[in-house]
Amino acid sequence: MIDKFTVQEKFPDVDEMARLWGWIQECPEANIDDAGPKSIDDFYVVMKAKAQRGVVLFVVSTDLFGPIGCFGLEAFGNGLVKFAGLCFAPYVRGTGLAQRSVTGVLERLSPRKVVVEFFETNKRAVSFFEDLGFTFEGRFTDETIIKGEPVAVVRWVKFPKREE
Ligand SMILES: CC(C)(COP(=O)(O)OP(=O)(O)OC[C@H]1O[C@@H](n2cnc3c(N)ncnc32)[C@H](O)[C@@H]1OP(=O)(O)O)[C@@H](O)C(=O)NCCC(=O)NCCS
Repeated sequence: MIDKFTVQEKFPDVDEMARLWGWIQECPEANIDDAGPKSIDDFYVVMKAKAQRGVVLFVVSTDLFGPIGCFGLEAFGNGLVKFAGLCFAPYVRGTGLAQRSVTGVLERLSPRKVVVEFFETNKRAVSFFEDLGFTFEGRFTDETIIKGEPVAVVRWVKFPKREE
């Protein structure tokens, strides 16, 4: 079990960006729709735009593996925090590392409401966020296109302060 990890608030460096792009390739349709980035160069532009609009990126690393995950959070100044991407290396999935790193950051930020939107087809995301205490809030029908097929986007939310 990997029990030591660090979470750094930073824009991913070249190596971290390349790894992140690699992890996404395990199942691109979990993160990327038909309008999304098709190459690592496109992906870099998307990530840079996220950072420029105020998304804070977190890079998760362990001594043994180096970078193993990355996620983005956007805070709106009214206690609302929204996920802006989340992906972990396939070899650490199911270990609880993703859950622990996300939980640690959310506890520190202490938001009123946390929102995540993802493609309805992403069953792993449902399990992951449900286990973290998120509940279903809504569904946007035919919100995007993946591999030529319309896909709904679902919105899950958590109110951490109501649980205290
Ligand atoms: C979403 C993600 C961060 C969850 O991390 P995780 O460590 O796998 O989280 P969990 O251990 O809670 O597992 C979530 C579900 O995926 C399943 N899972 C875990 N590892 C898996 C693997 N290697 N292959 C297939 N399924 C796997 C788990 O069984 C669980 O489903 P269950 O509760 O029905 O058993 C991770 O799967 C990931 O990076 N996925 C690709 C990117 C993505 O989908 N991002 C979310 C978009 S918002």
